Amino acid sequence: MNTPIRFSRRHFVRTTLSAGALIGAPAVLSAEAQASKRVFKLGLIGCGGRGRGAAQEALEAGKILGFNVQIVAIADYFKDRALQTGRQFQVPAERCFGGPKGYLDLMETDAEIVLMATAPLFRPRHFEAAVKAGKHAFIEKPVAVDPPGCRRVIAAGEEAKRKGLVVISGTEMRHDWDYRRTHQAVVVEKALGRLYGGRVSFCIPSMFSTKPIQPRNADDLVRTWQSWIALSGDHLVEQHVHNIDIANWFCGRPPMSAVGFGGRSRRCAGDMYDFFSVDYDYGDGIHIHSMCRQVNGCWNWTGHDFVYERGRTTGDNYAKPQASPIPADLPQGPTSAVQEQIDTLYYVNKGEPMNQARAVAESTATAILGRISAYTGQQVTWKEIMEDSDMVPEHYQLTLRPSAEDFENGTVEIPVENSVPLPGKKP
Ligand SMILES: NC(=O)c1ccc[n+]([C@@H]2O[C@H](COP(=O)([O-])OP(=O)(O)OC[C@H]3O[C@@H](n4cnc5c(N)ncnc54)[C@H](O)[C@@H]3O)[C@@H](O)[C@H]2O)c1
Repeated sequence: MNTPIRFSRRHFVRTTLSAGALIGAPAVLSAEAQASKRVFKLGLIGCGGRGRGAAQEALEAGKILGFNVQIVAIADYFKDRALQTGRQFQVPAERCFGGPKGYLDLMETDAEIVLMATAPLFRPRHFEAAVKAGKHAFIEKPVAVDPPGCRRVIAAGEEAKRKGLVVISGTEMRHDWDYRRTHQAVVVEKALGRLYGGRVSFCIPSMFSTKPIQPRNADDLVRTWQSWIALSGDHLVEQHVHNIDIANWFCGRPPMSAVGFGGRSRRCAGDMYDFFSVDYDYGDGIHIHSMCRQVNGCWNWTGHDFVYERGRTTGDNYAKPQASPIPADLPQGPTSAVQEQIDTLYYVNKGEPMNQARAVAESTATAILGRISAYTGQQVTWKEIMEDSDMVPEHYQLTLRPSAEDFENGTVEIPVENSVPLPGKKP
């Protein structure tokens, strides 16, 4: 699901710069210097559009930083995809793994960094395995589909910290320099005064199938993961997490509660909603309105608008901090997707355990909070899904099925297509 995220004009101009114009890009290296370049061996789990894109961007990031980056192992649920991607990146067939447990074979290889870009359902399990194996990780967003999954990612992130591992998330905008500088100016240095509230949006045309999927088995579910709540988390989680992540970052914390609405009348495939509208209460009188929709012929907007005491920002248009939040020797990439890979290699090389696991897990949990509220029609609190197991156990323990473990154990039950959550009590 490679939906482009709308960035500022400045961002667009930067993406069109040639590699030679990159700030901080090293000069052409001599043969001797080439030979002595630091080697990074990378593994990739999930060979779809994003996974292959991330691998390509890691190679580009390596060139920018003057490192020798190699893709050395690949895993995909479907072995033929792993092999095809292996051919693209010159990975020998014996290092291309298939099946729902193929990721475990990849963990046995000498890959130092693992890029993870499967359906979100599988991220907690894959990330836990990477941390256990002592590997640095790039984890695509979102990182889970239910509250236990988010807590597992937070716990594995803490273990990664103890082991000194780098964890970078694919939240893109947090890596973009205009966003980082605006965050520094507005949130850290309080250039616009107090935050009053705001809105974030991912409203786009339809992306869903016009025909029912009628899945026959687990493979069909994996192939069509973008249509199933259990595999994607619904589009509020799968896509809109990008903007919700920026809301959490600019508010400086996750919300206390959510009241959400949503519904479905256009989709014929899977079991997800067409649209959501969620009021997030961040405490202290601050509310952020989140909206996302995938319906043709409607008003569309992807972005952010935060209102402060002395002005407002889109999150990337007030890039005038007094102090720079960006290390002086960090090169700037041509896109935020390349920047994520530059950041990963930069911090691994420095031995600095930069760790974004908690931030992306909390943003994922924030999206899930809104989704549970919309599905149930109730106000749902952060405490009941993330902190207090006794408050509302069915929310705290909510584990979507089929789970990642079901796929590994061959115990997948096919969800009922077109059976959607109905808010409120039955009359
Ligand atoms: N940062 C961004 O802007 C952005 C853009 C697109 C997608 N994404 C995210 O990247 C992830 C992948 O999206 P995509 O568009 O590449 O999807 P995709 O369907 O194109 O690719 C997913 C790949 O993962 C494989 N896969 C699924 N489950 C697996 C498992 N258990 N083990 C191994 N392989 C498995 C699939 O076979 C497929 O090849 C999603 O989390 C999505 O939200 C992020």
